[in-house]
Amino acid sequence: MGPPIHTVLMGTCASLFCALSFAQPLGLPPVPVPANNPQTPEKIALGDKLFNDKRFSSTGDVSCATCHDPKKAFTDSPLVTSEGINKLTGTRNAPTVINSAYFTLFFWDGRSPDMEDQAQHPIINPVEMGLANHDPVLKVVRSDPEYVAAFKKVFGKEGTQVTMTQVQQAIASFERTIVSGDSPFDQWYFGKRQDAISDQAKRGFDVFMNKGRCVSCHTIEQDHALFTDNRFHNIGVGVNRIQADIGTLAPAFLKAKAAGTDVDKAVLTNPKASELGRFAVTDTLDEIGSFKTSTLRNVSVTAPFMHDGSLATLRDVVEHYNNGGITKKTDAVNDFLSGGIRPLELNDDEISDLVAFLETLTSPQFAAQKAASLNPASCNVSTTKLAATAMPMTTEGTAP
Ligand code: HEC
Ligand code: HEC
Repeated sequence: MGPPIHTVLMGTCASLFCALSFAQPLGLPPVPVPANNPQTPEKIALGDKLFNDKRFSSTGDVSCATCHDPKKAFTDSPLVTSEGINKLTGTRNAPTVINSAYFTLFFWDGRSPDMEDQAQHPIINPVEMGLANHDPVLKVVRSDPEYVAAFKKVFGKEGTQVTMTQVQQAIASFERTIVSGDSPFDQWYFGKRQDAISDQAKRGFDVFMNKGRCVSCHTIEQDHALFTDNRFHNIGVGVNRIQADIGTLAPAFLKAKAAGTDVDKAVLTNPKASELGRFAVTDTLDEIGSFKTSTLRNVSVTAPFMHDGSLATLRDVVEHYNNGGITKKTDAVNDFLSGGIRPLELNDDEISDLVAFLETLTSPQFAAQKAASLNPASCNVSTTKLAATAMPMTTEGTAP
């Protein structure tokens, strides 16, 4: 295998509040790090351990990594919707954790304000990790000698001083190291390497920017591309399933919410509530069926697509857009469709070109993993190993 694709460098400690400085991969801006949760190698390693700890589930066999598997570009592809404890399935497709450090709101409907907050929810969601409350987590981290030592070292806390705040901070710190850019697209567009992508993909890029109008939501900036505007749009996925019920469903949801129903549990356990999208968070009628714009990086390895996993291939996705936000040409256009979505009139070649372009957004470490997954013996990627060297995401599946 070749040398590391990019390296996360440790900066020199100029102050008491020693921070890591990241040499970000081609195509990505610096990772934003909140002032109250600076990155340190020990904290990142602790977060990695927590991310992989199955003891934080009621059945002892589900961790964050179960659904955000580093070997599957931090998703649970090819599952349509995630499988938690006792093989219970939720309503939504697991988005990747890669580059989620750049999101401004979390979850498909943005119901969580930051990464630290996000990490507490799956643990107590009945279809994910299934604990009734966070006490069992605290019991483990306050008694397991490795955790006791790590929390003392990283946060200077022990015993009951250790709370979910530190657990969530460590997990978030680890997640902020899960970044990936440097795809063939980045090498071509930002790196000016003409042969990094095919002529077909270059034509597909033109469709992406112009006739397809994809870039209006999946944004590209001057010196980086997150492929998301971090906003919410109704692009016509899933909402048809509740179209006939909205008149009763929406007020009933608001009533239940006012009476104290937990939105996180409701949207992941109730398929109809799930389709309300951003409305479930903001109570704003015109956000019914709106979901967060996905990053498109690594989509070639994370099928199926969309919040409900309803589109199996990238070609299906492009055809959905080409039809003007309906999956089958005979479907009705929903009442809340974003103004940005309308029939595109792409011909067959343009559709294929656009798909070829989307396939250039795969970062090298995941392209390598895809190849390695065909030959499991050579696939040896461990998050623990990566974070321990403070260079997460740098190694391709190294041969044993
Ligand atoms: C049973 C599968 C499952 C488990 C276990 C799980 N997740 Fe998730 N994760 C999901 C699904 C499904 C979503 C999308 C849910 C939604 O948006 O409503 C998600 C969303 C996220 C997001 C938001 C990404 C975005 O695009 O906004 C992050 C970050 C995340 N999970 C991290 C974690 C962490 C940390 C843990 C462990 C504490 C965890 N997940 C455990 C399935 C899982
Ligand atoms: C009006 C904004 C908007 C436009 C225009 C748009 N998208 Fe999207 N895109 C979204 C949103 C929002 C989602 C998530 C929707 C959902 O899950 O319901 C999404 C999801 C996707 C996904 C699925 C990613 C995943 O991981 O599941 C792909 C692929 C995609 N878009 C490609 C495209 C392409 C190609 C175009 C141009 C033909 C395009 N988009 C135009 C907003 C937009």
